[in-house]
Amino acid sequence: MLIETENDVTPAVLEAMKNTPDPRVLEIANAFVRHMHAFAKEVRLTEREWEHGIGMLNGIGKKTSDVHNEAILFSDTIGLSTLVCLMNNGAGGSTETAAALLGPFWRMHSPETEHGGSIVRSPTPGPALFTTCRVVDEKGKPVAGAKVDVWHASTTGMYENQDPDQADHNLRGKFHTDADGRFSFRTILPAGYPIPTDGPAGEMVLFQKREPWRPAHLHFLIHKPGFKTLVTQVFVDGARYIDCDVVFGVTKALIGDYKKHESGTPPAPDVTAPWYTLDYTFHVEPGDSGLPQPPIK
Ligand code: BEZ
Ligand code: FE
Repeated sequence: MLIETENDVTPAVLEAMKNTPDPRVLEIANAFVRHMHAFAKEVRLTEREWEHGIGMLNGIGKKTSDVHNEAILFSDTIGLSTLVCLMNNGAGGSTETAAALLGPFWRMHSPETEHGGSIVRSPTPGPALFTTCRVVDEKGKPVAGAKVDVWHASTTGMYENQDPDQADHNLRGKFHTDADGRFSFRTILPAGYPIPTDGPAGEMVLFQKREPWRPAHLHFLIHKPGFKTLVTQVFVDGARYIDCDVVFGVTKALIGDYKKHESGTPPAPDVTAPWYTLDYTFHVEPGDSGLPQPPIK
C-alpha cells in the first residue's frame, strides 16, 4: 500500500509482516509495532527524541559483553523483568509467588558444594551466615534431588565477576536437596549494592533522581524436572532500600527472617559474634523445568 499520512504507517507495517509463519511471533511483532507507534503518537515524538532513543539502544548493545548484560539491566530498571516474572509464576500470575527476577549476574556451572559447605572461596569480610533451606511442592511435600544454584554479592557490593579481588565463583555454589527437600550452606551476610551506573540503564536511573540501590539479598535458582524452575531472591528484613529496590524485585513473600546471634556457642570454631542464621522454605509449582539463558558467561 502507498503511504500518504502518518495514519497509514501502522497498517502498512502490519500488512508487510502478515506472512510471518509462526503465529505467536506474528502476534508479538504486531502488538510491538502497534504499541510503539501508539507511543510515538501519544507523546508526539520529535526527531531529536527519536535519535536519543536510538542512541540509548545502541549504548545498551555497546555496553553488553560476556561479563555484563546491559539489556537485562535496562529491562530490570523499568520493571519489565518483574512484570514478566509475576505474570509467569504463581499459577500464571493468579496467586502470590516466590519467584523474582533473575538479574544480570547468574552464571551457569557454579561449583558443586556439599550440604552445609561454605561458598566463601576467597577472604571476604562480613558476619557469617548459616542458612537452612527447604524446597517443597504445592502440597508441602519435600522435593528431593532438586539442583539449587546460589549466588550473591560481596560486602563491597560486587559479584565476583565484577571484582578482580574475589576468587572465581566466590559466593556462588550449587547444591542438591536431600530426601527431606533440605539444603544448607555457609556464607556471609549479604549487603546492599548499587547497580552499575556507567551505562544507559544506570544513567537513566540517575537522571530520574532515583536511588540506584538494591537491598541486601541472596539469589536462588531451583531446578528439577517436573517443576517450574524457580528463580528467586531472599531479602534481608529491615535492609536499607527494601521499599525502593531500583529493580522492583522485593515482594512480601521474599523477605527472609535473617536472625542475628550476639551470644551463645557459634556454629563453627572460627565464627565470632555476631553471626546470622536464615531458615527459608521455597515452594515450587508444577511446570516447565527449562533453564534461563545465562546473562553472562
Ligand atoms: C541482582 O540482584 O543481581 C541484580 C538484579 C537487577 C539488576 C542488577 C543486579
Ligand atoms: Fe543481586
